[in-house]
Amino acid sequence: METHREPKHQQKKRSRDWGVDVAAIAGSLVHEIKNPLSTLNINAQLLLEDWKDAEKPRELRTVRRLKVMISELERLERILQSFLRFTERHELSLQPSSLNSLLEEVVELVGAQLAQGAIQLRLWLDPGLKVFPFDPDLMRQVVLNLILNARHAMAGKGGELILRTRTVARDGHPWAVCEVIDTGHGVPPHLREKIFDLYFSTRKDGSGLGLATSKRITEEHGGFIELETEEGKGSQFSVFLPMEPVQR
Ligand SMILES: Nc1ncnc2c1ncn2[C@@H]1O[C@H](COP(=O)(O)OP(=O)(O)O)[C@@H](O)[C@H]1O
Ligand SMILES: [Mg+2]
Repeated sequence: METHREPKHQQKKRSRDWGVDVAAIAGSLVHEIKNPLSTLNINAQLLLEDWKDAEKPRELRTVRRLKVMISELERLERILQSFLRFTERHELSLQPSSLNSLLEEVVELVGAQLAQGAIQLRLWLDPGLKVFPFDPDLMRQVVLNLILNARHAMAGKGGELILRTRTVARDGHPWAVCEVIDTGHGVPPHLREKIFDLYFSTRKDGSGLGLATSKRITEEHGGFIELETEEGKGSQFSVFLPMEPVQR
């Protein structure tokens, strides 16, 4: 399998590109837009209420158009909401936690759903993996995103999903690694960087938020995500988390 990982200097540059100020400005802009949008939505709903006795073709046409307006307004509200979820700074609540227990918990959540999709789940936990400080709620989100993507990549065909933990030493420091490995359709070479971009999706009803958010949360922990993948064979997303405090 080919390995894709951004060089260190590139990673630094990227996080500067998405600076705190830009995120803060975008966030307040979104808040400003949300209020008039919900006023529009409420008024459109009231108008629809006024037309509930519509009978004539012209009236019925108006009702149809109002409904289109309302559903588009709701779509805009959803887009803004998910954007806010991405830009809001995650205040990390670091607490000594067990990555193994987190994976066991997640398996409880998704096990039945995976079985329905004819996906065999294997849990390979490193018994030597010690407790270390991370934000369990945010990391649960990361693991769930990766599992969900693996499920999409195997949709219709089934396959095998391996969740694995291990520890490695890099640059003289201990790292915990959480791997999500699937036998899905894989990622073509020209998309291996792009899939981590905000809003990038190859799925018809995809949001393109999953990997961008997972990457961001992992980097906020001082970690990184590696991807190994082969088209038609499968993918392995490895989340590396530093086990010792790092300067962020
Ligand atoms: N396990 C995977 N196998 C193959 N492709 C994947 C996998 N995970 C992510 N991708 C690709 O990355 C894209 C972006 O993923 P993501 O950010 O989670 O957004 P979404 O799931 O909404 O499409 C997906 O549309 C898909 O093309
Ligand atoms: Mg996704």
